[in-house]
Amino acid sequence: MPRVSSLLVTILALAGQTCLAQARSHHASRVFLDGRDVDEQYDYIIVGGGTAGLTVADRLSEDGESTVLVVEYGELSDAASIRTVRGGFMGTSNRSHMYDIQSVPQTNLRNRTISVLAGKVVGGSSAVNAMMTVRGSAADYTRWGGFFSDTSHWSWDGLLPYFKRALNFAPPDAAVTKSANITYDTRFWGNTSGVFAGWPSFQYPGTTAQMDAFRGIPGVPFVEDSGSGEPGVYWYPTFMDPSLVERSYARTGHHDKAANRTNYHLVTRSKVLRVILDGTTASGVSFVPVGSATNSTTETVVGARKEVIIAAGGIHSPQVLQLSGIGPRNLLTSANITTLVDLPGVGQNFQDHPMISVRFTYSNFTFHPAPEDAVLDRNFSSWVDTVWKANRTGPNSIATGNGAAWLPFPVISARSENISAALSAQNHTLSLPPDTDPTVAAGYRAQMLSYATALRNNDTAFYNLVISGANTNSILVALHPLSRGTVNIDPTDPYHLEPLVDYRALSNPLEAPIIADLIRFTRRYYLDNPRTRAWAATEQAPGEAVQTDEQFAENLARTLNPSEYHPAGTCAMMPRELGGVVDEELRVYGVEGLRVVDASVFPTLPGGNTCQSVYAVAEKAADLIRYGPPKTQE
Ligand SMILES: Cc1cc2nc3c(=O)[nH]c(=O)nc-3n(C[C@H](O)[C@H](O)[C@H](O)COP(=O)(O)OP(=O)(O)OC[C@H]3O[C@@H](n4cnc5c(N)ncnc54)[C@H](O)[C@@H]3O)c2cc1C
Ligand SMILES: *[C@@H]1O[C@H](CO)[C@@H](O)[C@H](O)[C@H]1NC(C)=O
Ligand SMILES: *[C@@H]1O[C@H](CO)[C@@H](O)[C@H](O)[C@H]1NC(C)=O
Ligand SMILES: *[C@@H]1O[C@H](CO)[C@@H](O)[C@H](O)[C@H]1NC(C)=O
Ligand SMILES: *[C@@H]1O[C@H](CO)[C@@H](O)[C@H](O)[C@H]1NC(C)=O
Ligand SMILES: *[C@@H]1O[C@H](CO)[C@@H](O)[C@H](O)[C@H]1NC(C)=O
Ligand SMILES: *[C@@H]1O[C@H](CO)[C@@H](O)[C@H](O)[C@H]1NC(C)=O
Ligand SMILES: *[C@@H]1O[C@H](CO)[C@@H](O)[C@H](O)[C@H]1NC(C)=O
Ligand SMILES: *[C@@H]1O[C@H](CO)[C@@H](O)[C@H](O)[C@H]1NC(C)=O
Ligand SMILES: *[C@@H]1O[C@H](CO)[C@@H](O)[C@H](O)[C@H]1NC(C)=O
Ligand SMILES: *[C@@H]1O[C@H](CO)[C@@H](O)[C@H](O)[C@H]1NC(C)=O
Ligand SMILES: *[C@@H]1O[C@H](CO)[C@@H](O)[C@H](O)[C@H]1NC(C)=O
Ligand SMILES: *[C@@H]1O[C@H](CO)[C@@H](O)[C@H](O)[C@H]1NC(C)=O
Repeated sequence: MPRVSSLLVTILALAGQTCLAQARSHHASRVFLDGRDVDEQYDYIIVGGGTAGLTVADRLSEDGESTVLVVEYGELSDAASIRTVRGGFMGTSNRSHMYDIQSVPQTNLRNRTISVLAGKVVGGSSAVNAMMTVRGSAADYTRWGGFFSDTSHWSWDGLLPYFKRALNFAPPDAAVTKSANITYDTRFWGNTSGVFAGWPSFQYPGTTAQMDAFRGIPGVPFVEDSGSGEPGVYWYPTFMDPSLVERSYARTGHHDKAANRTNYHLVTRSKVLRVILDGTTASGVSFVPVGSATNSTTETVVGARKEVIIAAGGIHSPQVLQLSGIGPRNLLTSANITTLVDLPGVGQNFQDHPMISVRFTYSNFTFHPAPEDAVLDRNFSSWVDTVWKANRTGPNSIATGNGAAWLPFPVISARSENISAALSAQNHTLSLPPDTDPTVAAGYRAQMLSYATALRNNDTAFYNLVISGANTNSILVALHPLSRGTVNIDPTDPYHLEPLVDYRALSNPLEAPIIADLIRFTRRYYLDNPRTRAWAATEQAPGEAVQTDEQFAENLARTLNPSEYHPAGTCAMMPRELGGVVDEELRVYGVEGLRVVDASVFPTLPGGNTCQSVYAVAEKAADLIRYGPPKTQE
């Protein structure tokens, strides 16, 4: 294995030369398995063929002229595990479609390590996710632009047209809409995208009843449509093609469309090592076949005439930047990487949605039996052959479900004013790693002050309970975590090892009290609610013994999962003086011709599962790349 320093010399030498890739004039197929088959140069090179990368690639190649190369680590797969929707989590069952990363031991979680899940296949995480199609609160997007100015084009109004462009809304069947009492409003949706927001052809009666039961608690808002940007109890669609009853994702909705164009190329099983900089301009990328050592004989260097766009996701986009010499100087120095741009925010500001371990079970709930998914887990391929091929109706057409509560903090907690005041008054720097750059700390402070306002208002959802319709629901999520982690290259072997992922769970001392209130409210919904009383719920987790903030803190240390597989924030779109990595046009500070477009640019998480927001950001990015920023209003 070559030493990192000799690799660096090789790469720096390559950067100054003509590109190595062999030009081929006629391609039988434009999806390449071997990096040596790609052209020497493209207008745009996209690093990562995932949710955002394939969306941008489709839009940029739409003109039939701009040449686009997507370089993807995973392979192109038609596996049934990706296509079936039942239960929502089959996509994760083939582990070769996901990265295998363990976080560093979590100091505040009794040194537990956490599984970091992300898609490693054409389509990225959209190929393995649970297909919940949600948008978050309008205030979440206006907060993004607010870090720049009150007139930023990053706002709810600025993003709504891209939410509409991103998905093709196919309304639920009229009979199911009526029997289940589903509401929706097509004013918030579009119908042109190749990626579908569909609905199953069936709902469990229990879903309707459990959603309606929130009416037993005064002040809980009900919302007509999941896309309206208002927090509340609502129905939401599934990333599913309703005619096929199969997952609809970036591969089916964008890659399959673009693959017919001669100006669109994709190379699979190829790991981008770094962006090649010519001075301060991105001029190409270097990649190696997956699994090979990184050395001069395995590398391919391809030139970018216009831009390089990094879309490797929240875990790997910061890694690619750091390996390219763009990142915190101390970190790069420790890995023997020459710092080309000292950008302290790269890999910092790491966020994910904590999943909270609760379990309540109705003992007198007779709407339907528990889903028999345990049976199908036992032999998936047999289930595909015998059931899926024959029958895509009923529960077979349901992914994770379609109902949930997304509630503001004042609705669920009696101490929202106190917690808000305490968050404003905090010394925010104390919640960050000791060596944090002052610009990154200033950005964190700006985020926490924005959250302090949101905590005492009703415009931002902090609470999410996913409704299953069965006699138990167990997905409870904190939508605006206060803690911030890091994703940094491993200095011991940065080119071969996965980055060091540290959630720094519960590092803000107010995180545990906020989560305690989310659990207390969940108890109220199940146990102290006239609408659920006759169903006779019992509490299995966290258990009656857990009552005080101290007891909750102890319980969370043992049980919290700091990830709902929504990694974000690691290449934040923030002003540079607030520790930002990209500007409002998603351009990396200090470099020409280089953008980041994926969940890593979210400065703060939206109050909802992240995939729909990634599609919308990618659609907006494609317009920024093609047409520049929107004209400001007079
Ligand atoms: C198990 C799971 C369940 C989820 N459930 C939901 C859900 O129900 N609803 C929802 O809205 N969201 C869900 N999400 C989150 C959502 O899918 C992601 O936020 C979103 O898809 C991320 O998009 P992205 O473009 O940022 O990254 P990705 O889609 O992950 O794309 C990144 C791509 O870059 C590639 N890549 C990485 N490094 C390199 C490199 N060095 N060289 C070349 N290629 C590289 C990867 O292989 C990948 O294909 C879930 C995620 C997971 C993992
Ligand atoms: C899992 O995915 C890999 C890679 O796409 C594929 O070769 C394999 O057949 C899949 N396994 C199953 C059980 O589908
Ligand atoms: C966690 O690991 C650290 C470092 O190894 C150790 O000092 C500490 O005692 C461990 N904590 C627990 C609860 O095991
Ligand atoms: C698509 O949306 C447009 C504009 O909202 C609407 O006029 C049209 O009827 C829709 N088409 C379909 C097939 O739903
Ligand atoms: C159906 O929805 C309406 C309002 O949209 C609500 O008033 C009613 O209570 C709901 N009924 C059930 C059974 O959920
Ligand atoms: C938020 O909603 C709750 C419940 O309806 C209400 O009691 C509270 O006054 C509202 N707070 C604000 C700031 O609007
Ligand atoms: C792509 O081309 C194939 C073969 O010509 C064709 O069958 C398919 O419909 C085309 N797909 C799209 C999305 O245009
Ligand atoms: C480079 O890596 C390849 C593939 O891993 C290996 O076969 C080859 O021997 C390596 N070459 C050098 C010079 O290390
Ligand atoms: C699963 O079912 C398939 C047939 O559909 C069979 O070939 C295979 O042996 C079964 N696997 C196990 C582990 O039972
Ligand atoms: C399809 O599956 C559903 C739910 O499992 C079942 O109710 C229905 O009878 C099945 N239909 C056929 C034709 O097998
Ligand atoms: C906040 O904490 C940091 C780190 O310990 C310290 O340097 C700073 O002086 C503190 N700020 C205030 C206002 O107390
Ligand atoms: C970094 O370079 C120094 C000096 O050349 C060397 O001693 C050290 O082993 C290198 N570290 C790595 C991780 O390659
Ligand atoms: C169970 O549910 C039935 C029907 O709703 C109701 O009549 C009965 O009182 C419930 N039993 C308990 C123990 O709540």
